[in-house]
Amino acid sequence: MRHLLSTRDLGREGAIRLLDVAEDMADTQQREVKKLPTLRGKTVVNLFFEDSTRTRISFEAAAKRLSADVINFSAKGSSVSKGESLKDTAQTLQAMGADAVVIRHPASGAPQTLATSGWIDAGILNAGDGTHEHPTQALLDAFTIRKRVHGDASRGRGLDGLSVTIVGDILHSRVARSNVWLLTTLGATVTLVAPPTLVPVDTRLWPVTVGYDLDEAITAGPDVVMMLRIQAERMHDAFFPNTREYARRWGLGDGRLARLEPTTIVMHPGPMNRGLEISAAAADSPMSTVREQVTNGVSVRMAALYLLLSGDREN
Ligand code: CP
Repeated sequence: MRHLLSTRDLGREGAIRLLDVAEDMADTQQREVKKLPTLRGKTVVNLFFEDSTRTRISFEAAAKRLSADVINFSAKGSSVSKGESLKDTAQTLQAMGADAVVIRHPASGAPQTLATSGWIDAGILNAGDGTHEHPTQALLDAFTIRKRVHGDASRGRGLDGLSVTIVGDILHSRVARSNVWLLTTLGATVTLVAPPTLVPVDTRLWPVTVGYDLDEAITAGPDVVMMLRIQAERMHDAFFPNTREYARRWGLGDGRLARLEPTTIVMHPGPMNRGLEISAAAADSPMSTVREQVTNGVSVRMAALYLLLSGDREN
C-alpha cells in the first residue's frame, strides 16, 4: 500500500487483509509487551490542520507502539498561521525525513494533493479531509462490527448480510462517505437516514438506500445503527432544524433505544453531542461500541502504518 487516502481505493481482499493485520495488532496489545520493534527508525508526522482528539492521539499511540519516532504538528501555533503554504510545509517535512504523514485538513482533497504533488516522498494517510473521507475511522468501525458479530472467528471475514443504518448529518460527514464505500465493499447493506436538507445530492450515485424516517428505519431491525455528529461548524449553507426538533425526529433517544433489538450495535465516531443526536443512555448502553471503537482505532492505525511503512510501498 503506497498511501491510504480513501476507502474507495480498497478492494474487498485488501480491506479484509488490513482488518486481519489489525486483529494481529490487537492480539499484541493484549500481551504484556505492548511495544513492537517493527517501525524502529521510521518517522511518522501527525500533520493536523483541524482539531482532533481521538484520531491524533490514536495515530500517535499506534506509531509509538510500533517503535516509530512521532512528530506532532498542529497548524495552530505553526508557521501556517503566518501564511506558509501546504507545499512549503510538506517540503519542510520532507527535509526532516518524514516516512509517513498523517494529515487532517479542512479542504477535501488535501491528502490526495500531498500524495500526488511530488512535494514529498512519504506515505500519506488521510486522517479526515473536509467533508470527503476519513478512511481509518471507517476501518475501525468495520473492525468493531466484525468483532462484535464474529468474535474470535473474525479473521478472513467480511460483513456479508449485515444491515447498517447511518443516521444524521450525512451532508457534512466524511465518516459516512468512507463507511458507505467500505461497508458495502465488505458485503453489508447500508441505509442512510437524515433530514432531507442534510442528504447530499450525489447519494443517488451511492450504493445505498436513503430514508428520512428514523422510526421506520428502526422498525426494519438493522444490525447496526451508526449515529453521526451534527457538524454545526460546517453548516454555512444547510438548513438546520432547531435542536429539540432534531433530537425528536432524528436522535437516538431512550424510546428508540428501547425499541432496538438487544443485539443491535449502536455506534458513534465521536465527538458526541449527547442529548442531540444520541442520548446519554444510548451512548453508555451495553449495545454501544463507542469506547470499543476508540480502542480498536489504535490497532487499525497500527495495521495501516505497518502496511504502509514495512513493505513494498509501490504496491
Ligand atoms: N472520530 C474522530 O475523527 O474524532 P476526532 O475528531 O476527535 O479525531
